[in-house]
Amino acid sequence: RIAYVNGRYLPRSEAAVHIEDRGYQFADGVYEVCEVRGGHLIDERRHMERLLRSLSELRIPLPMPLSALSIVLHEVVRRNGVRDGIVYLQITRGVAKRDHAFPPAGTKPALVVTANRIDPEKTERLAADGIAVITLPDNRWDRVDIKSIALLPNVMAKQQAREQGAREAWFVAADGTVTEGSSSNAWIVTGDNEVVTRKADRTILKGITRTVLLEVLKSEGLTLTERAFTVEEAQGAREAFITSASQAVMPVVRIDGRPIGNGAPGLLATALRRDFHRFAE
Ligand code: PDD
Repeated sequence: RIAYVNGRYLPRSEAAVHIEDRGYQFADGVYEVCEVRGGHLIDERRHMERLLRSLSELRIPLPMPLSALSIVLHEVVRRNGVRDGIVYLQITRGVAKRDHAFPPAGTKPALVVTANRIDPEKTERLAADGIAVITLPDNRWDRVDIKSIALLPNVMAKQQAREQGAREAWFVAADGTVTEGSSSNAWIVTGDNEVVTRKADRTILKGITRTVLLEVLKSEGLTLTERAFTVEEAQGAREAFITSASQAVMPVVRIDGRPIGNGAPGLLATALRRDFHRFAE
């Protein structure tokens, strides 16, 4: 298994980053996760656009032109023989003597790329059963629209979900509305067949899967509303689901122990899961 680290393709066991990498010391960096399907990178262009935005918001320079970065991504996928799975890329502000403020001009950003296989059958089994989610207060900073590697609240939330037999945790804002999952966007389908997901402002990460799914819904003529919803509304919804690059559309069947609809994956969520890749690039 091969990783790309700062200009070199290395066996994973030999791949290493510097102890004064600012990603390691300050979580001073950004990342992207792109789905790999049949060896092809899904929605690569959109992921690269979001990467550029995250970098520019944090004033981290792009370590190489996007065309070169694309070659590295494909090369890591190819060298690992990944047909179905994900490719992960991380860019940090680079290596410098520890100081909270930015390092001297000219410090090179550091790039790491890895790829992992995901067994499609396992994910399909999960989707056939649907997943449980728990809810937790959203204790993150106010720029979660940036795909930063600073993910401690997300780590703690996901672990709590795991310990309670759930696969995801939904963050809840102070006003009682759901913002998003610890690594996914949150959706519900109301009794009036209205598909609802939160507006992409600074309170959520604007998921690429979310953006593509909104296009699927529009093309299928479904009623969709970008608005906030409460935990109570979600628990009383006909369906619920999450979206992310690693799981596409994943039905939610329980929220804080309460069954959603009849407690089985929703028909619409299941159909959208099937349709999603017809629209993804
Ligand atoms: N997570 N919200 C958060 C907080 C996320 O971390 C993610 C993705 C999403 C969905 O975005 P997208 O559809 O572009 O994957 C929403 C990735 C998969 C991860 O951290 O592994």
